[in-house]
Amino acid sequence: MTSLLRKKDINALISHASPLKRTLRTWDLTFLGIGAIIGTGIFVLTGKGALTAGPALSISFLIAALCCGFAGLCYAEFASMAPIAGSAYTYSYIAFGEIIAFIIGWDLILEYALSAATVAVGWSGYFVNLLDNFGIHIPTALTTAAGTTPGVTSYFNLPAFLVVLIITWVISMGITQTKRVNDTMVIVKLLVIILFIACTVWFIKPQNWHPFSPYGWYSHHNGTATGIIPGASIVFFSFIGFDSVSSSAEETINPSKTLPRGILLSLIISTILYFCMTLTMTGVVRYPVFRKYINAPVLAVLAKTGQSWLSIIVSIGAILGMTTVILVQLYGQSRISYSMSRDGLFPKFFGQVDEKHQTPFKGTWFFGIITSLGAGLINLNILSELVNIGTLTAFILVSAGILIMRYTQPDLHRGFKAPGVPFTPIISIIFCLTLVAGLNWETWVRFFVWLALGMALYFGYGRRHSHLNPNYKGAD
Ligand code: ALA
Repeated sequence: MTSLLRKKDINALISHASPLKRTLRTWDLTFLGIGAIIGTGIFVLTGKGALTAGPALSISFLIAALCCGFAGLCYAEFASMAPIAGSAYTYSYIAFGEIIAFIIGWDLILEYALSAATVAVGWSGYFVNLLDNFGIHIPTALTTAAGTTPGVTSYFNLPAFLVVLIITWVISMGITQTKRVNDTMVIVKLLVIILFIACTVWFIKPQNWHPFSPYGWYSHHNGTATGIIPGASIVFFSFIGFDSVSSSAEETINPSKTLPRGILLSLIISTILYFCMTLTMTGVVRYPVFRKYINAPVLAVLAKTGQSWLSIIVSIGAILGMTTVILVQLYGQSRISYSMSRDGLFPKFFGQVDEKHQTPFKGTWFFGIITSLGAGLINLNILSELVNIGTLTAFILVSAGILIMRYTQPDLHRGFKAPGVPFTPIISIIFCLTLVAGLNWETWVRFFVWLALGMALYFGYGRRHSHLNPNYKGAD
């Protein structure tokens, strides 16, 4: 029993020499964070969010941001204490012990792969639309997975499949390339969002904001949860990704300072943009109109203002926005499996660092290929709630971990201390539980099936091969 809870020694972890290259600074991390955060949430889910919360959608965004902010402070403290790759997985290894760490690692692999694939499907939708604008038509059979649209014969989502493969290639080529590609796309995405707000804000009619919160905090309409809180449960997806900043700890210069700054700055910038953008969108268009534009709510606003020229630019911004989300998710995932393999919990294959590129080349390709096939073959939309539950579980454990670490290791050096402990992690846990409560039972079932598979892997492989196993003989 005790072996299930064997813990990593934080000092031994930090003294591990890292074979990965250290090149990232505060702004690179902030860009990495924004790259992971702003994507499908704002470009696609705002439609469903507006129908759920009404114009008060911007308040839903603030609530989701607060939830992530409190969790982000805990992530930042952990990242400054243990600036090593692996994010919540590594933190749980230190605070709770091996089995919880494995569960979280396994959970994060699901979160990253599934959200990368889900976003790739959204990407494909915008991309196909954009090509249509230029008179290039890809046959429908090759733009969605089989069985996704009733009455339409389709086989495979080719654009979604290809975009994941191309991004996998970029990541496997090395962190310098990843950084450059990401930074450029994030700048374009930010400029497009600012341009969108600047061009449409003038068309706001304050009467569109009345009533501001038609469904209150929480209510039921036609069997669906509506109101500000259910809205927050949906748009929570928009903030997922900031945690992947901490996955790059071993490639960061002076990580105990830069990691917390990167996490918090990316969250703050995204929140400001989301708030302004959703307030503008619901001010220009009456919220029920979004029903007709559920897959591209931003275009509802441009149709109303008559700025069709802007829709091509915004589509390009959305495509780039989603590209960086996929990039950071796949990047974070390769680093989690790298860390788990280095600890012996996953086969060595995933931890082998390629000499030329200094990246976990094979592991990156392994998951990249699986994710691309998933994006091409499966209708992943219904699974986005699974992404939320996985992430919220990780947030809860990281927050609880901060409480435990403050109590068990109060003297450990922390480059950044979350303010207001114990309240900050407790509030974070309460926020996460509230959002989890808004998810349906099918999501819970799917999540437990995934965890059961993970447990089979842990007891069948990880437990025996763990480097903390007393019989482990060291690298062979
Ligand atoms: N936060 C990411 C997005 O909105 C997952 O696409």
